[in-house]
Amino acid sequence: MLRVIRISSLLLLALVAGLWGYSWVTKGPDETLGEAFASRLAGVFGQDMAVPSAGGGGLQMPGGIQLGGPFELVDQTGKAVTDRDYAGRWLLVYFGFTFCPDVCPTELGTMASALDAMGPTAESVTPLLITIDPQRDTPAALADYVPRFHPRLQGLTGTPEQIAAVARRYRVYYAKVQRPEMTDYLMDHSSFIYLVGPDGRVRSLFRPEMTPEQIAAAVEGQIRAAGRAGS
Ligand code: NI
Repeated sequence: MLRVIRISSLLLLALVAGLWGYSWVTKGPDETLGEAFASRLAGVFGQDMAVPSAGGGGLQMPGGIQLGGPFELVDQTGKAVTDRDYAGRWLLVYFGFTFCPDVCPTELGTMASALDAMGPTAESVTPLLITIDPQRDTPAALADYVPRFHPRLQGLTGTPEQIAAVARRYRVYYAKVQRPEMTDYLMDHSSFIYLVGPDGRVRSLFRPEMTPEQIAAAVEGQIRAAGRAGS
């Protein structure tokens, strides 16, 4: 028994130390080590993060971190795009990859159903899939994949550096997983649907257990509130 406790505390210690090291290596230029650690920890225990909250200027994370912001990527037609191409639009953004066996297809299906549940409001919302597996998710791979979920779903990829940069802005955790018995690798990643406002800032995070109807209602509420505030 004691031995089991000792081994599990050693494992826990190793996990924390590993995460700390990982945070140190991957922390963004405008991120303190503490913030980086908190976000990597949140990545590991994904479901327990955040806090969908309404409000004008964007979602405030603990420590005053603002999610979202500028990015440079490539769409599924091979065209270079930036956040400025989407300025003034509402976005539903999901970070995933086309080889994902289960979670990504489920979440993309939820996102598509949420758009359908919104009625006319859906027209002011652009759904985006940003891949965290740029090695395999070429524009062509995305072009083949995204229409399976929604006719307006756009797939964005980029260089590994561009993907790392946008993932950092949205505090997305992702890592390659290669097991000896597998010929292909998988990607481990955090799984949230982000509502991004016309200013490019994240307004809400939707957890995987939310239904399309809940997401639709939350999006409509945010868009209505923004309309009333005149933004
Ligand atoms: Ni996935």
